[in-house]
Amino acid sequence: MTTPPTPDLPPARRPEASLTNQPFLGRTAIVTGAAGDIGGATAVRLAAAGARVVLADVTDAVEVAAARCAEANATATPVTLVFDVTDADAVRSAFEDLAAQDVTADLLFNNAGYQGHFSNVVDYDITDFRRVLDINVTGVFLVLQSFARHLISAGRPGAIVNSASMAHGGAPNMAAYSASKAAVIALTKTAAKDLAHHTIRVNSISPALIGPGEMWNRQVRLQATTPSQYFSDRPDEVAEQMIGTVPLRRYGSLDEVAAAVQFLLSDDASYITAFDIEVSGGAN
Ligand SMILES: NC(=O)c1ccc[n+]([C@@H]2O[C@H](COP(=O)([O-])OP(=O)(O)OC[C@H]3O[C@@H](n4cnc5c(N)ncnc54)[C@H](O)[C@@H]3O)[C@@H](O)[C@H]2O)c1
Repeated sequence: MTTPPTPDLPPARRPEASLTNQPFLGRTAIVTGAAGDIGGATAVRLAAAGARVVLADVTDAVEVAAARCAEANATATPVTLVFDVTDADAVRSAFEDLAAQDVTADLLFNNAGYQGHFSNVVDYDITDFRRVLDINVTGVFLVLQSFARHLISAGRPGAIVNSASMAHGGAPNMAAYSASKAAVIALTKTAAKDLAHHTIRVNSISPALIGPGEMWNRQVRLQATTPSQYFSDRPDEVAEQMIGTVPLRRYGSLDEVAAAVQFLLSDDASYITAFDIEVSGGAN
């Protein structure tokens, strides 16, 4: 029996890298929403794993996360970028700034996001609806597109993780946010197909209840003050009700989200693309 021919495969991974405690040595990772809870925790984790990190956010509070990254990895100075992900010109010029500083990034955690108002769909404010979609969908698209162009022009393989959410299944009182996160998953799958021949992998994560942090506090408070048949009007009871929907009976930590992102960005995930990892303690 003749052996079928094996096509030449691109060098997609560095298998030996996962055996070191700094598997991201030589890698540069951009993290958007890096001034926030999940972005900051992930940037620090990637820095500790050897990556040079580029921290981006709309606020210069991103410098605080950069200082934590510098502590985690003294050998690779973090870069900070302040821009609004919804502003196409600002996104483009942020990538031009990187090129001017001779920084070529190969990894992207596309994570900036906004939860939006809490309101029954009947009353949901159109201005806020558009704002949520602009940040969570158009912003994710613009950064992904500029990053892909940046990689393709450098002729390098890479990996992208987009921040979706378990709200993609339809969280009560969160019409815009839920719609936006379903869109992130669809965008991820299309981008994975469109970028595969450049050896650029694209995946997403869907966290559920993650804490402590601003989004957890805010959703507990606002679900309590927004009438619905699903939640009590007392924040302490809302917190219990939410945790009650999680088979593991607790909220997840920031680092548990960061660990999933690290895996998807790593060479250990070199054959995984167009996939969404649910970081949800089993909640769905
Ligand atoms: N925390 C959770 O429970 C949870 C659950 C599911 C999904 N997520 C998603 O994870 C991501 C991070 O969430 P987090 O908990 O760290 O929230 P966070 O509010 O702490 O961080 C979000 C960050 O995004 C930045 N941002 C918002 N609008 C921006 C814009 N226009 N341009 C640039 N940056 C902008 C904010 O300044 C902030 O630093 C979000 O996409 C969120 O939807 C969070």
